Amino acid sequence: MAEREGFEPPDLLQSMVFKTTAFDHSAISPGAKVKPAQDYAKKYFKSCFNHSCIAYYIVHSYAIMALHILKTGDNSHTLYNTELDETYHSRNGALQESRHVFIENGLHFAASHTNQPIHVLEVGFGTGLNAILTLEYALKHGLSVNYHAIETTPLSSEMIGALDYNQFLDVPTSALFSDMHTAPWNEPIEIAPVFNLTKHLIGIQDFNPLIKYHLVYFDAFAPDKQPEMWNPEILQKMYDCLDTQGTWVTYSSKGELKRNLRSIGFNVERLPGPPRKRHMLRATK
Ligand SMILES: C[S@@+](CC[C@H](N)C(=O)[O-])C[C@H]1O[C@@H](n2cnc3c(N)ncnc32)[C@H](O)[C@@H]1O
Repeated sequence: MAEREGFEPPDLLQSMVFKTTAFDHSAISPGAKVKPAQDYAKKYFKSCFNHSCIAYYIVHSYAIMALHILKTGDNSHTLYNTELDETYHSRNGALQESRHVFIENGLHFAASHTNQPIHVLEVGFGTGLNAILTLEYALKHGLSVNYHAIETTPLSSEMIGALDYNQFLDVPTSALFSDMHTAPWNEPIEIAPVFNLTKHLIGIQDFNPLIKYHLVYFDAFAPDKQPEMWNPEILQKMYDCLDTQGTWVTYSSKGELKRNLRSIGFNVERLPGPPRKRHMLRATK
């Protein structure tokens, strides 16, 4: 069972190495040359998965990854990545998880410590769920947000539309959500008077932060699926890009992660997790 689903692995005081594949940027338009590979993938995955799932195929440099839309425990959708055998959010409730971990224990906490516009960095923009929930919060509370997000594998508009997150939001943000996804990469865009967005099409490893952030949403695939995202060098980069007293939040609560954060200098709190997950972590500088 995956950590995102509430399984907290025993802390064995050792790290494990898993094979992962580097993503290229062909997610939106794989192009004609990959058509035979896509046909093969469709045939293959059709035999492996529930036929009612909507599936999308992303062609990598070496492999084909399918993304399936799944309904989670709170009726909101998430994506399942076949190559990593990992979902983008908790299967127990995508929306609940994002609200609990990133909005309530991240944004609300950080916003209550400042009257300034807040600079947020999200690692793993993905479906944009955390971004739209942040915009919802900003509109409700009159908070100004400068939101930066990093992503290596953008999703298509078709996939985003099929996730249908707008039905769950308290303020009408449908057009704004679409604006977020169609916004060009690597340049700042005003999505609403209280919300500026810059999407960086780059991996965290190569990202060079030019400002200090008050808050980081660390929403990478789980440590046992993508360990290179959670190594001490990346965590040090996270510490360095935070403003004084900045906040870093994640859904993971692994013992090794906690120890690494502490050895870098973070104050680490283990907080109650979202429904059916015992814990999450909040680290402050
Ligand atoms: C758990 S999912 C993201 C969930 C996302 N926050 C959401 O609400 O949909 C992890 C994301 O990290 C992205 N990712 C993978 N490798 C990355 C890297 N090296 N740097 C930044 N993002 C990466 C993936 O493409 C994926 O969108």
